[in-house]
Amino acid sequence: MTADYADYDHHALGATYESIYETWRELLGKCPIGHSKAHDGMWVVTGYEESVGILRKPSAFSSYPASFPSFPQPNKMMPVELDPPDHQRYRSMVAEPFSPKRALSYEKPLRKIVNRLIDDFIEDGHCDVFETIGAPLPAMLATIFLGVPLDDATRMAGWIHTLVHETASRPEAAGEAVMSIYGYFGGLLAERAGGDGDELISIIARAEVDGQKLTQEELLGFSLFLLLASIDTSQKVIGSMFWRMANDPDLVARLVADPSAVPAAVEEFLRLYSPVIATRKVVEDTEVAGAELKAGDQVLLLLGAAGRDARTFPDPEVFSLGRENSAKHLAFGDYIHKCLGIHIVRVELRVLLEEFLRRIPKFEAQPGAESLWSNGQVQGVVKAPIRFPAGAREIPPG
Ligand code: HEM
Repeated sequence: MTADYADYDHHALGATYESIYETWRELLGKCPIGHSKAHDGMWVVTGYEESVGILRKPSAFSSYPASFPSFPQPNKMMPVELDPPDHQRYRSMVAEPFSPKRALSYEKPLRKIVNRLIDDFIEDGHCDVFETIGAPLPAMLATIFLGVPLDDATRMAGWIHTLVHETASRPEAAGEAVMSIYGYFGGLLAERAGGDGDELISIIARAEVDGQKLTQEELLGFSLFLLLASIDTSQKVIGSMFWRMANDPDLVARLVADPSAVPAAVEEFLRLYSPVIATRKVVEDTEVAGAELKAGDQVLLLLGAAGRDARTFPDPEVFSLGRENSAKHLAFGDYIHKCLGIHIVRVELRVLLEEFLRRIPKFEAQPGAESLWSNGQVQGVVKAPIRFPAGAREIPPG
C-alpha cells in the first residue's frame, strides 16, 4: 500500500510558515512515503527512519542530480552529486578546512561581523531581520572560509539569490548567474593554484585526486556548490529561527536568562526548521515502507518533515531545550554526504544567537506584519519583520 501524495510540489507557490508544516504533518500522517504527480511523478519521503534508510543506501539511490528539477549548470556539483567510489576521494581532499578546530577559528571574525550588522539597525527599533542579518551573514561568513575579500559578499549573495529564486521564472538570468560564479572562481582558482594559502579556495585549487589535478569543470562544480550549500541553507534557517523567536517570547526569555542553553536551542531550530529537501534517483529497484521504487524513479526527502516524525522525536512540535536526541535531526543529511559545513554552521548560529540576544533581549513580530515563506529545494522564512526597544551602536560608523 502506497499513500497518494496527490500533486504535492516542493516548488508550489503560496505555502506559508504556518501552512507548510501542517501540510507535511498531513503527508506523514498518511504514510512515511507517498507518490506525487508533480514534475512528471516523484516519490516523497516524510518519515525519519525511511529517510535514513535511503540516505544510507547509495548503491540503490544515486545523488545525481542533487536538485530536482535540476539547476541550469553544466558541471556536476561536487562532491554532493558524486556516488561511491568517486565521492570519498573528492570529499576527503577538503576535510581539514571543515574541521571543528577550523570552524572555531572563524568565531572571532564572525562575532565582529554580527555586531556590525546589528549596529546598522539597532537604533531604529525595527527591521526585517531576514534582510538585515539572514541574507547578508552567510555570504559574509563564506568570504571568511573561502579566503576572499568581505566586500565580495554582496555579489556572491546576489548570484545565489538569482540561481535559487529565478531558475524557473528566468532561466536565462539563472544561467548568467552560474556563468558569473564560474568567472569569479575561475580567476581566483588560477591565481591561488601556485600559492601555499590554507583557506578553502587555495586548498581546492591545489587539490589532487589519485595524483591528478582536478579539471576546470570539477573545480568550478566544487566552487558553485560551496556557495550554494553554504549561503542559501543558512539564510533560510536564520529567517525561520528569528520568526519562531519573534512569535515565542517565552523561548527568547529562556535563552536570555540562560545563554548556556543556546547550543541546545541551535539543534532544536535545525530539527524543526531543517531547510533542505534532498533528492535521490533510484538506480536499483527497492522497497521502502511498502512502496515499490523502480530504477529511474525520482525521490525527494523532506528532511524537515523527518525532524517532526513523532516516532523518533516524541512531541515533535515542542521546542525542548532538554530533548536528548535533538542532534539526531537530519538537517545536515546523513551518512556519506552528511554536510561538511556542520561545525561552521553550529558556530555561526551560536554566535549569532549569543550576540543578538545580548544586544536585543526583547523583540516581537511587528503587529500586523506577515512573514514570507520561500519554497523550493531549500525552504524557509525570507521576510521576518520585527520590532524591539531601540538600542545603541557599539562600533562607531565608518
Ligand atoms: C544551515 C546550514 C546548512 C544546512 C541545513 C546544510 C544541509 C546539508 C545537507 C542536507 C546536505 C546533504 C545533501 C544530500 O545528501 O543530498 C549537505 C551537504 C553539504 N554541505 Fe551543507 N548545509 C548547511 C550549510 C553548509 C555550509 C556552511 C557549508 C560549507 C561551508 C556546507 C557544505 C556542504 C557540502 C560540501 C556538502 C556535500 C557533502 C558531500 O556530498 O559529501 N553546508 N548540507
